Amino acid sequence: MTAPPIPVESALKSSQDASSPAIVFEQVSIAFERKPVLDGISFHLAKGETKAIFGVAGSGKSTILKLSLGLLKPDDGHIYVLGEDVTELSEEALFDLRRKIGMVFQESALFDSLTVRENVAFRLFEEGNVSEDEIERRVREALSFVELEHTVDMFPSELSGGMRRRVAIARAIVTQPEIILYDSPTGGLDPVTSNTIIELVVKQRDVYKTSSLLVTHRLQDAFTMANHYFDRKANQMKPLPPGARGEVPMGFLILRDGKVIFDGDVHELAQSKDEYIREYIS
Ligand SMILES: Nc1ncnc2c1ncn2[C@@H]1O[C@H](COP(=O)(O)OP(=O)(O)OP(=O)(O)O)[C@@H](O)[C@H]1O
Ligand SMILES: [Mg+2]
Repeated sequence: MTAPPIPVESALKSSQDASSPAIVFEQVSIAFERKPVLDGISFHLAKGETKAIFGVAGSGKSTILKLSLGLLKPDDGHIYVLGEDVTELSEEALFDLRRKIGMVFQESALFDSLTVRENVAFRLFEEGNVSEDEIERRVREALSFVELEHTVDMFPSELSGGMRRRVAIARAIVTQPEIILYDSPTGGLDPVTSNTIIELVVKQRDVYKTSSLLVTHRLQDAFTMANHYFDRKANQMKPLPPGARGEVPMGFLILRDGKVIFDGDVHELAQSKDEYIREYIS
């Protein structure tokens, strides 16, 4: 179901084209203090696809998200986001581009002194031209998406870890971004709470067709995303029938020693003969 990859040249010409990738990494390298972290990596994130990124601690997962936002510049290579080369954009152009991207940080990163409403509304306040009524409507809508409307006047300290993650997701989606970058959204959560977060990611993918990169340590989470779809009528995530497993736009990317050692769907992953990957998925 994922859109076929198309050459970067045509992605550049038609950034509005629905079939052009949301994100393209082309031979991207970056080193910190001469230690190479990413060593010539290339991959595509198709429009509407959610791609899970795996790799041991320090393998460069968060770095990929920061590069996509233009917060870091690669030493080499090109990164196209919605058709624009972020390695060559001015700060002002980057600022505009970032408005189309929602970010869910590794530790939720909510502002403790602000209410849930103010946290979720933050990017809308920043826009400066959204009316108060419109802000309230969109905050309510985003909170209702994560089923936390009742927390609107509470402070982050009054919420559980899982609720804070859901508020962080509401904050990321309030601007209705075309791309969402999730950094370990289920990290440190119990399996049941993790599942509520996974369901939100699947809902975002299947209802809003948002393109996403999702860093996670848990392969199981990504398998769940590959084998479930969001049923709008029932308003819940449901397992795909056995014959349709993996028939959702869900990709897997595995990093090792600065390289991409796997980039494909759940079926290709299951069939991989690579020893490291076999061990990884066993
Ligand atoms: N701004 C920076 N300055 C120096 N070194 C950095 C910087 N950002 C990342 N690194 C280094 O780059 C490597 C990759 O970091 P990154 O945060 O991308 O890892 P990660 O895969 O997200 O790890 P984790 O699973 O622990 O979150 C690490 O060795 C880290 O120390
Ligand atoms: Mg990280």
